[in-house]
Amino acid sequence: MHLQIVDGKKYRFSDEDFLALAEIETHPQVVKWNIEPSTSDKMEIYHLFKKALESLPTEKNQIFLAARLNDKLVGFLGIRRERNRVGNLGVSVHPDYWKRGFGTILVRAGIEEARKRRLIKLEAETLSTNRPMLRIAEKCGFKPEGARKTTIGTEGKKAHVVKLNLILD
Ligand SMILES: CC(C)(COP(=O)(O)OP(=O)(O)OC[C@H]1O[C@@H](n2cnc3c(N)ncnc32)[C@H](O)[C@@H]1OP(=O)(O)O)[C@@H](O)C(=O)NCCC(=O)NCCS
Repeated sequence: MHLQIVDGKKYRFSDEDFLALAEIETHPQVVKWNIEPSTSDKMEIYHLFKKALESLPTEKNQIFLAARLNDKLVGFLGIRRERNRVGNLGVSVHPDYWKRGFGTILVRAGIEEARKRRLIKLEAETLSTNRPMLRIAEKCGFKPEGARKTTIGTEGKKAHVVKLNLILD
């Protein structure tokens, strides 16, 4: 079994890849950790990924890495440059492949890529109950910067969001 991290700017995604990305993004066990509401329509997400990734090579403010295991796309990481040299990081792994270290590998690769692109700081936000993400952040050197309360889901449930940041040197 070999996990390969590919750079979305250089890699040519297939239709199967776009579907795999949509499958991850709309998986109920992944959606459960969303902070912002998002559509659960798999085909809508498929088209959003297709459009975004096809224009990625010319998109200066976006890093996108995908994790492929034996030719199957099992996870992805995005870093969006939000303001001057500061990027906002998000990562997802298909639940069938959780707890194998893939999330950590993706975040480490994302940090490396952000350094290469001369970003000076990475930020991430996660629910305070998201232990795997908090553990990855801790292992990779992110520090908690603060917390805020938000409403998640359709039932108006209140939740705490932790803000994390990593200063890059
Ligand atoms: C967060 C996420 C990417 C982690 O993916 P993963 O491939 O399972 O991550 P890893 O296998 O690298 O595990 C990371 C750490 O969390 C720990 N962990 C995993 N699941 C855990 C759980 N349920 N409770 C506590 N710790 C857990 C692992 O043991 C590991 O720590 P270790 O290296 O000390 O053993 C994945 O859970 C996911 O896609 N979640 C939904 C999307 C999301 O929440 N993204 C984060 C918001 S930016």
